[in-house]
Amino acid sequence: MSKTIKKIGVLTSGGDSPGMNAAIRSVVRTCAFHGVECLGIYRGYQGMIEGDFKEMGPRSVNNIVNKGGTILKSARSKEFMTKEGRIKAHQNLVNAGVDALVVIGGDGSFTGAEVFNEEFDFPVMGIPGTIDNDIFGTSHTLGYDTALNTVVDCIDKIRDTASSHNRLFFVEVMGRDAGHIALNAGIGAGAEEILIPEEDLGLDRLLESLQKSKASGKSSSIVVVAEGDKMGKNVFELKDYIEQHLPEYDIRVSVLGHMQRGGSPSCFDRVLASRLGVKAVESLLEGKSNYMVGILQDVVTLTPLEQAIKGHYPIDLELLRVSDIMST
Ligand code: F6P
Repeated sequence: MSKTIKKIGVLTSGGDSPGMNAAIRSVVRTCAFHGVECLGIYRGYQGMIEGDFKEMGPRSVNNIVNKGGTILKSARSKEFMTKEGRIKAHQNLVNAGVDALVVIGGDGSFTGAEVFNEEFDFPVMGIPGTIDNDIFGTSHTLGYDTALNTVVDCIDKIRDTASSHNRLFFVEVMGRDAGHIALNAGIGAGAEEILIPEEDLGLDRLLESLQKSKASGKSSSIVVVAEGDKMGKNVFELKDYIEQHLPEYDIRVSVLGHMQRGGSPSCFDRVLASRLGVKAVESLLEGKSNYMVGILQDVVTLTPLEQAIKGHYPIDLELLRVSDIMST
């Protein structure tokens, strides 16, 4: 292993996600394992600009593998988007003796890392942390699996009350512009219909599907709506539209919101975080930079940050067909 890197900084940035703490723990302990120092940076890039740092050793990450959120806190820093902000941040890292950086976050955070690398020739490595699963170069981002389980758990509960009252529920889930959460949680929770941005079902087909569902003897229904769905109506407008056209339905809306980002990470996310943290640190020590570590077909891989930012992990449209068949 290269001896040029003696100290690695780690930060979490953007929307938090379950598994970020397990990734911090992995980075800190892998550094300790290889005799490299580790510096925790609070509040993402904003903390880098303000010099909000804390030396971290293997004991500073005790008992966090099971905790949601991020002990390093997270932020979306406007100042880091300016050259002045990045110069301050770089100077602080140099003053603190940091030689390389691990950034745990989504594509916005990776864009910051890439620019920082380019401007200061500073070694960076990304770990994908977002519930949205919208990053190219990894089949799973940290927190996605936990969020799916949270959503399924919520919809199971909604189903109890929906079926007791013979109601139709529109359940809005997160995902920004991607439908991964909606599609997979929708199938897992047995939704009658799933609306995702990648495939515009159209209002007519939605009406048709709900009519068919009623005619087939179903007395209650769940429609999962991705927040980024492009149907042209938000979830409350959808409710009004369906109420107008199918007055026989008693409809409620449930927006799951930020609860999807919280909670103890699943075993899958903890293992993934541990694997990605090891790879991120060891890749930096091998002299690699400007990559994102991810997982593809259960193999930990490196993808150039630029590709990870520009691409999107594609949605499997076959899942929509599976969903259709399941809602027969
Ligand atoms: O990217 C994660 C995410 O939770 C998205 O699913 C959602 O659109 C967004 O962040 C919400 O961001 P904020 O925390 O700023 O409300």
